[in-house]
Amino acid sequence: MKDVVHDLELLFRSRHGVVHLDTAEEERARGLLHHVAHELGVPFFTWTRSRGLVRAGQPGGVYGTEDPRQALEHVAQASIDALYHFQGVSRAGLDDDLVMALVRDCARALENRRGALVVTGADLSLPEGLRGVVTRSALPGPTEQELRTLLGQVVRDVSERRHVELDMDREEIARLLRHLSGLTLLEAEKTLTRAVVEDGVLNADDLGLVADAKRSLVEQGGVLEYTPVEASLAGVADLEGFKSWLSHRTAVVRHPDRARAAGLPFPRGVLLLGVPGCGKSLAAKAVAAEWHLPLLRLDPSGLYNKYIGESEKNFRRAMDTAERMAPVILWIDEIEKAFATGGSEDGGVSQRVLGTFLSWMQERRGDVFVVATANDVQRLPPEFLRKGRFDEVFFVDLPDAATRAEILRIHLVDRDADPDAFPLAELAAACEGFSGSELEQAIVSVQYAAFAEGGEIHPDRLSEELRRTRPLSVTMAEPISALRRWAEGRTVSAN
Ligand SMILES: Nc1ncnc2c1ncn2[C@@H]1O[C@H](COP(=O)(O)OP(=O)(O)OP(=O)(O)O)[C@@H](O)[C@H]1O
Ligand SMILES: [Mg+2]
Repeated sequence: MKDVVHDLELLFRSRHGVVHLDTAEEERARGLLHHVAHELGVPFFTWTRSRGLVRAGQPGGVYGTEDPRQALEHVAQASIDALYHFQGVSRAGLDDDLVMALVRDCARALENRRGALVVTGADLSLPEGLRGVVTRSALPGPTEQELRTLLGQVVRDVSERRHVELDMDREEIARLLRHLSGLTLLEAEKTLTRAVVEDGVLNADDLGLVADAKRSLVEQGGVLEYTPVEASLAGVADLEGFKSWLSHRTAVVRHPDRARAAGLPFPRGVLLLGVPGCGKSLAAKAVAAEWHLPLLRLDPSGLYNKYIGESEKNFRRAMDTAERMAPVILWIDEIEKAFATGGSEDGGVSQRVLGTFLSWMQERRGDVFVVATANDVQRLPPEFLRKGRFDEVFFVDLPDAATRAEILRIHLVDRDADPDAFPLAELAAACEGFSGSELEQAIVSVQYAAFAEGGEIHPDRLSEELRRTRPLSVTMAEPISALRRWAEGRTVSAN
């Protein structure tokens, strides 16, 4: 909170007459601004549509200022040192020539004074005509310290009414606070209160409630999907190169502040290229489990809109949400489909969204780790492979015999079959060229047959099923070997 106040104070002392404070929390903004006004030693006014301009600590409002034009005129003419907060401002309200002219007058009047005119409003975007006049500043989400204070407050408040037990150690509390990041203070308060009131105990189980609150927040935009994570790296056979890369960064991810102090930035992301069905999507999910971070999947179908500029805006909004959720994993599956190149039929929309994505990759704020996957390098824009976008580009190849045996074992165990009853090495040896997905499919179809007959999965049946399968690596031998040749030298092996 100290930092925010300090930053705002600096902003208002310097030559910024009108500031758009971008936040979903107008009440929190008001509290902060009131505090800043106090620090600056200037009066604090709020303006709302229903009450007009009201000076803090005084009963009545300034006569006739419910009309925003009158209010702005008053501010422009008053020429005193003061901080004005205009709440609930809408785009429609600003899209008016006279209003814009008055805002410019206010900017001039306040530019060399202590104080400013600050506007906030839900989802407010500024009209073109005000771009150069109004400074945009974002109100950062609540800090860990603010959340910690909030947690104490909620527990105290609820325990006045009923017995409350706080059953968490320091590590768990830290995790809870981390999970709350991305929510506004108000949302965090609601979530915590619900978690405490429900059973009178706050413990590690309540992390699930926090996840629910975040899910509904994330999915509002229709582009990101909050994906529950069941996969873990233990359920992924091989991919040792990739796993070891991850494990070298786990400490940085778990202790980002300490890492930053040591000059180690949060990892940016990886691109997983490779043969279909060999575990790219599975690995993306496992990263989230391994690092204990929420997983947001980008759904490209929610991105595109027939109105000009909307697609880019949807994308921007989604990235804002991702940043707000940080630390978080952003998963873009089949990225070549999300940002296809060469398609002129969509009027260049996907090209523009791609541009937006690439610049976001460069300038993103907050700890967002991107995991992108792709099968078809031909359709992948070359920009993706340029150094600096991703930390590493991995190539995921077909599993070798030992890995195939391991994949069979993982999926038999998953289906409650006893893997020791199966000649895994022998089966695996006979499955040259099979992908993980094809091995899993064979087990699934034998399981169906077994279920129909009321028995268990039989080794002979599995062996027969595998023999009948014609793997993709045979039917698509040409493109797969082309992909391998391409990957050589350009990528690092994930296997
Ligand atoms: N290395 C592996 N270990 C365990 N299971 C695997 C492995 N590779 C693939 N599988 C199994 O195959 C299924 C399909 O894999 P996944 O969807 O991750 O492949 P993919 O590389 O993303 O394929 P696509 O390119 O078709 O999207 C997984 O759900 C998993 O059950
Ligand atoms: Mg996939």
